[in-house]
Amino acid sequence: MKPILTACLALLLLSGCSPKVLTAQSTADGTRTLNLDAGTSVATIQPTMYGLFFEDINFAADGGLYAELVKNRSFEFTLPKTGWLEPGTDKFSLNESSGKSDVIKIGEDQANSNYLRVTVMGPDYVLINEGFRGIGVKEGDRYDLTLDAAVGEGNISRIHLQLIDPDGAALGEASIDPSGSDWKNYAATLTAERTVDKAQLKLTFEGRGTVDLDMISLFPQDTWKGRKKGLRKDLVQLLDDMNPGFLRFPGGCIVEGRTLAQRYQWKKTVGPIAEREYLINRWNTEFDHRPAPDYYQSFGLGFFEYFQLSEDMGAEPLPILSCGMACQFNTGELVPMDELDPYVQDALDLIEFANGDVTTAWGKVRRDMGHPAPFNLKYIGVGNEQWGPEYIERYEVFSKAIQAKYPDIVIVSGSGPFPDGEFFDYGMQQLADLGAELVDEHYYRSPEWFRENANRYDSYDRNGPKIFAGEYAAQSVAIASPENKNNWNCALSEAAYMTGIERNADVVVMTSYAPLMAHEEGWQWTPDMIWFNNLQAYGTANYYIQKLYATHAGTDLLRITEDGEPLTGQQALYATAARDATTNELYIKVANTGAEPQSLNILIAGAKPSATATVLTMASDDLEAVNSFAEPTKLSPVESSINLQKNELRVAIPAHAFVVYTVQL
Ligand code: AHR
Repeated sequence: MKPILTACLALLLLSGCSPKVLTAQSTADGTRTLNLDAGTSVATIQPTMYGLFFEDINFAADGGLYAELVKNRSFEFTLPKTGWLEPGTDKFSLNESSGKSDVIKIGEDQANSNYLRVTVMGPDYVLINEGFRGIGVKEGDRYDLTLDAAVGEGNISRIHLQLIDPDGAALGEASIDPSGSDWKNYAATLTAERTVDKAQLKLTFEGRGTVDLDMISLFPQDTWKGRKKGLRKDLVQLLDDMNPGFLRFPGGCIVEGRTLAQRYQWKKTVGPIAEREYLINRWNTEFDHRPAPDYYQSFGLGFFEYFQLSEDMGAEPLPILSCGMACQFNTGELVPMDELDPYVQDALDLIEFANGDVTTAWGKVRRDMGHPAPFNLKYIGVGNEQWGPEYIERYEVFSKAIQAKYPDIVIVSGSGPFPDGEFFDYGMQQLADLGAELVDEHYYRSPEWFRENANRYDSYDRNGPKIFAGEYAAQSVAIASPENKNNWNCALSEAAYMTGIERNADVVVMTSYAPLMAHEEGWQWTPDMIWFNNLQAYGTANYYIQKLYATHAGTDLLRITEDGEPLTGQQALYATAARDATTNELYIKVANTGAEPQSLNILIAGAKPSATATVLTMASDDLEAVNSFAEPTKLSPVESSINLQKNELRVAIPAHAFVVYTVQL
């Protein structure tokens, strides 16, 4: 793999120790003996191993990570007044004591083709935006409001802006004085006097007549890195805390679209925000049981912002592009092979956008957006989870074109939506035959499946494609069931399974849980790694498992065995071990999925451990337990320490537990 380290550190040399031969024994009290060779690197664990899969599903972007608080700010939804209320206006009246508004459409072919003409006729006219399931505001925090306005007939001279609570009481106010008939941008700042999770933005007008409005926008000043019109700080912090190795974006099925016309087109997501064309979110209508008629993509969080976020977190950017196939769970529309060129060109242009010199056409766009330095893109994904011969023939065209122009870029291909079966076997075989470098696998399966498949990669061809476990999550009820829970049973099963991922670090080089985020009220798919509402966010038990792995990844895989065999669930025990060449720390990860505690004696050979180990334990006897807004860290690591006896780590691992031991070498 080009960007992937191929050389391991010679741990034996580093440690200065020679491995002792220690043999496994069972003791009378049932203590199990594990042998760990800390002196020999079995494989390099790639820095990309534990990453993030981001998709705008469950209001993860608009209404979530993207901190815009006004929904449908430029009146571009299919029903252009979605999210806007006019309580003093009767649709079937002349409204002479209040007023009304009309949507003006100035051209179908423009990205931002609609604006609102407000006609004020009396004192009762009010225009309100309801936000994304309300607007969350915090006491003392400041909020930047901007809008475009052009004054028409009459004498409208002032627009009053208020944050109001659900009872209509003001929480903060400001005003702007629009002037002139040409469009101008106006700005004001509102300070919230109280914390309210479901506030609204209210506009009232001084004078009578018409005023045109567009791009009515409200952002907290307190964003991630304090960027104007930026990202929600608490959510990015949760991601950043995971030390992610990569960020995959923008999905998921939204890459493909329900139809080709509704696919994600990255070029429409860069440049000035007002010129980014809205698109109905494919999750808007996907599930009858979770309709979201107000779910659109504003693309305020577009490809530039994704690259920037990757850079902020020190994560490799991993964009996934449409390969000319609409979602096969929906229409499955195909672009004819002789019309595939524009799609391929999008991929080539994206690489230029990310890495090209500022003198290139797309490198210049990046520079104009404020980032002259390249984003150092190394990976690009072709298609999301396509299957069948139609995918393979399109992948081949992309692959040839990308390799010809950018031979250093690693192309991520896909093996379809399932981890086995006809589509999977066919895709994997074809991709292997084509010499694919990195194949994306998806598995949404039961907790049992995860516990039973910790040896999945043990038998993979060491000379075949590398694996990106790009989407996985244990489903407590059934795939995408609205009853699924982020419970301890699922999280622990994933933890057990992940020992098998890590133990096969020579094959598996990237992994990510999916989906990443969900709004408490706006979700379509569960389970999700992080849940949020308008003011709070919490990591699920699954989040803490991912975080434990990602923050204890190590650089070198070590061998840990019982009776010479890897621990893949024998008597409910799973284990993996790694060493970090930078910190010289040893990480031992053990999952006990059984209902009884287990005593272990871990014999460390090949290195000299320090006298004390740090222990991070997640355990619960209640397999149904979940984190929640009320108890956000109920299931999270608890830290303790334990002494070693020379090279022996004697531990009692609780029932239903995942434990990470850190030993300084
Ligand atoms: O993660 C939710 C969806 O599951 C993704 O959009 C898709 O790739 C998969 O089917």
